[in-house]
Amino acid sequence: MSVQRVRTFRVLLVVLAFANTSRAVVDDVVDVLRLGKEIGEEVISSWDVFGKPFNATGGVDIPVFRRREREILARLNLVSRSIEKLDLGLNKIGEVAYFLAKNRENKPTRLELRLNEMSDLLNRVASSNRLMREYVGLQEELERSTLLDFAEGCVSHDHGALPGLLERIHALVVPPHKNLLGRGILQLLNDDLEEEDSDVCVLQMSPHQLIYDMYNTIALTEIKGYAMMQFSWMLLRIYGRGNFTQEASLTRQRYAERTGQTATAARAALARANRKLYRCDPQEYTKDTYAEVTRLLQGYVENEVDMNTDGTCKENCAFYTLAERHDCYKEQFCAKQAACNGRIIDCQYIDSDMWVCPASPKSQRRYEWIQYENGRTLGKADASCRQGTTKVDSWWRWTLTHCSYCFCLCEDSESISERFFSLREALADIENNKVVTGMRLVKLGKVFHLQVYEGALAERGFVESSTEVAVKAFDPAHVGVTQGVDYHTLTYERRAIDLDELDAPAGHVLTGARFRMIGAHLHFEIRATPFNYTTGKLAPEKSQWISNDNTEGSHMPRTKIQLYKPDIPTRQQTHLHINSQHDQYIEFTHSDFDADAAQSTVPFIDIQPVVPTKALNTKGASLLSGAGIYHRGGRGSGGFLGVKILTYDYSKHVKAEPPPTEFVDEAETTEFVPVIN
Ligand SMILES: *[C@@H]1O[C@H](CO)[C@@H](O)[C@H](O)[C@H]1NC(C)=O
Ligand SMILES: *[C@@H]1O[C@H](CO)[C@@H](O)[C@H](O)[C@H]1NC(C)=O
Ligand SMILES: *[C@@H]1O[C@H](CO)[C@@H](O)[C@H](O)[C@H]1NC(C)=O
Repeated sequence: MSVQRVRTFRVLLVVLAFANTSRAVVDDVVDVLRLGKEIGEEVISSWDVFGKPFNATGGVDIPVFRRREREILARLNLVSRSIEKLDLGLNKIGEVAYFLAKNRENKPTRLELRLNEMSDLLNRVASSNRLMREYVGLQEELERSTLLDFAEGCVSHDHGALPGLLERIHALVVPPHKNLLGRGILQLLNDDLEEEDSDVCVLQMSPHQLIYDMYNTIALTEIKGYAMMQFSWMLLRIYGRGNFTQEASLTRQRYAERTGQTATAARAALARANRKLYRCDPQEYTKDTYAEVTRLLQGYVENEVDMNTDGTCKENCAFYTLAERHDCYKEQFCAKQAACNGRIIDCQYIDSDMWVCPASPKSQRRYEWIQYENGRTLGKADASCRQGTTKVDSWWRWTLTHCSYCFCLCEDSESISERFFSLREALADIENNKVVTGMRLVKLGKVFHLQVYEGALAERGFVESSTEVAVKAFDPAHVGVTQGVDYHTLTYERRAIDLDELDAPAGHVLTGARFRMIGAHLHFEIRATPFNYTTGKLAPEKSQWISNDNTEGSHMPRTKIQLYKPDIPTRQQTHLHINSQHDQYIEFTHSDFDADAAQSTVPFIDIQPVVPTKALNTKGASLLSGAGIYHRGGRGSGGFLGVKILTYDYSKHVKAEPPPTEFVDEAETTEFVPVIN
């Protein structure tokens, strides 16, 4: 099914930087904030080389400028290697996917144009950075003039040179003219994602993550640019092109201004950005994308005569609001179908005589469709009925009582109906400093479980790879497995599920989830554990369960999601959308009489894993702070229940530290050896 294709927007992939196919293992966990600081310090101490008197007796007799050149290049090499390390991580973001344009008139949006421009600028900086890395690697073989040329290019006033590129990138993030369409690219991006949240589920990143990754890419580019320009000034000075103290200082000032403003813009955008993530409707519904509760309240044809102990037909269908099947009178239709071995509920009379098309015995349905003689049809009657139709007629008794066939709901026996939810906790291993990195609902045997994915938390919000925490399946019928403790059985009276969105308090991360019963409601809860962002250490003993304990008896009770004539959701051709909010609930129920002969239990359960991509290809997983249960549906659809997650809020951790105080030029000018080319 092409639910996706129906959408009127398209997803535009803007590759921010080219894929870096070499995949060195990055052991150090560094982020741009720390890298920026380290490189700032390295630049300052590199300038110190000019102030340091060289040890004249130190080995071979090399001219001082030569030694300086070597030392500067060695330091540049160091700096560019540490940039490269982080770049490996961020380049992958590059591969990420950026988005979207609601391309209704096939006209690129302002955002799309700016993203393309941004992508282009970032790539140009990245490619001069690569060139520099290459040159530094080849320094012994290169002519000095090549390096000199390159350094000159890096600080040139040309529009296309590094300083100009960095200014243009900055102008996209923090537009210079506040009044004139002055929204920065991060803000535009956020506004755009707010309007149509579906892109988020396509990319499997929350808008918050997307903006954070974009900010990191921009911040890293600034750092690259800063290092390149500073070392260029140093090289130019070594080669006797001038003193450049003032220039280097201006470069530093401007860098501090830009990074400060970029961080402010990023913080503002991140604080507003949505952190929700859930799965879209799949291209095609399969057994890997959804599962069903079965035979909770299934449409069931039964004759009045079999629903009382005396075998009478004194009453009418509506009398039987809660009954059982007691007998099979004269081997009528009751002998041709599997009996309802549970409770028979809410019978009604539709018409006396009908054609019944039975479903395959392997199916969870009883009937494909039922066609009454009065013309009403329950289910989708097609010409063919593979199992052969059965004529079912009510009859009159000599007492002039009518033994009517009723249309009831069957809450079938627990041995064949699949309506269990595990109440066991799904936890990340916090003792080993692991956090939840994703979540899904899964059906094992007859039981639905919450399942989590976990990863080890490291410094500064970094989570190592994500793995599935296996769920231990169990059979509710087994000894030692207890209703109300290990699992909950949905019944006519107890079939509500709470729809909440829960977030951990600040400074906490998501480390588990579970279902619990509150009154007659199946209720979702999360476990939050505090952690130290700098060190990445969890404080397991301070974990807490978080839930929205609102009940029906409260001052502001939960509101119920009503389903309108719910058909099987996989049949729907229309686009389903999230239609539940925090503090609501929904009841599992039968599908619509007319649409489906009440043969299915809705909503269905979306079992697709919700595990955010940190950035495509990035090693590691995403840090989460919350989760929830939602309903996705539409008019005439039973819809799906699914889990959503909330990614961690990084806005507090975004800051720019101005580079360290300026290098004090304690001039030792005399030793200057001009370069003769
Ligand atoms: C000069 O270099 C030599 C040999 O590398 C070293 O032993 C000596 O301590 C250095 N002197 C100073 C002042 O750094
Ligand atoms: C986090 O850990 C660092 C290093 O041990 C410590 O300096 C800092 O105070 C801790 N932060 C909090 C909020 O506990
Ligand atoms: C470099 O120029 C600045 C002023 O432009 C001056 O104060 C400083 O002494 C000069 N340093 C050298 C090493 O020439």
